[in-house]
Amino acid sequence: MKNTVQTLKHQKLGGDKITMLTAYDYSTAKLIDNAGVNSILVGDSLGMVMLGYDSTLPVTMEDMIHHTKAVTRAAENALVVADLPFMSYQVSVESAVINAGRLMKEAGAHAVKLEGGMEVCNQIRAITQSSIPVMGHLGLTPQSVNAFGGYKVQGREYPAAQKLLEDALAVQEAGAFAIVFECIPAKLAGWLTKILDIPTIGIGAGPDCDGQVLVYQDMLAMYSDMKPKFVKAFAAVGELMSEGFCGYINETKSGTFPAAEHTYKTDEKMLEELKNYYREKINETSENN
Ligand code: KIV
Repeated sequence: MKNTVQTLKHQKLGGDKITMLTAYDYSTAKLIDNAGVNSILVGDSLGMVMLGYDSTLPVTMEDMIHHTKAVTRAAENALVVADLPFMSYQVSVESAVINAGRLMKEAGAHAVKLEGGMEVCNQIRAITQSSIPVMGHLGLTPQSVNAFGGYKVQGREYPAAQKLLEDALAVQEAGAFAIVFECIPAKLAGWLTKILDIPTIGIGAGPDCDGQVLVYQDMLAMYSDMKPKFVKAFAAVGELMSEGFCGYINETKSGTFPAAEHTYKTDEKMLEELKNYYREKINETSENN
């Protein structure tokens, strides 16, 4: 069944947990979609896990469009949400609407996500008024890593928790259809989830959000540059991949790969004919010299 923003709303009302995973390429998105996830996030985390940057800040609109196109070609049922990258929406409301529109028109996303609270509500309002569903993102918002002074849990002290509350209410009021809560204390996230009408999707925000999201390389133990506490490895795919790569190298070097079953049969008569032709050709050339 196709997932839409309405599906996620109904899931909150019915207490059916929302599942979301990141994907950035066709093959992975297809596997994730076939597994039955509700939503795929083409996160700007691609800057780190796909492109090897040390933050999400260098990610461009072109990067986001390129990867989102690959994911939307694969996703048959999942709601595809694409991140608006750093500086694609902060500068002006107009640039926010134009860039959100590009993710929908050029890349085929079903919704966009942007980071921030009250300071981006004009952007959320304008984008939703253009009929583009917006997902908010509060707590540890990685595009603000320099302002935070690192990747740290947010909302632990009263003023920060109060700001989180005000931001969540403002983002909801501005028209967002859901909010990602990243790296905030579990009970705070659970309480915010109760008072909000829109679904909350947690990453490092405990079990009481309406859903969960993880970066797929994290949950498959494929990315080792950073290991946040909230990550659970559901399968040791990284290890399996290394095993596969080493197996390929060893078998290729020893000559056991490719074996007969990986090989196309040669017509012996045709090969003999070709060899004769070549011999004659060589003789002709040496006679002429
Ligand atoms: O970019 C991303 O993958 C995200 C998730 C971590 C929520 O924003």
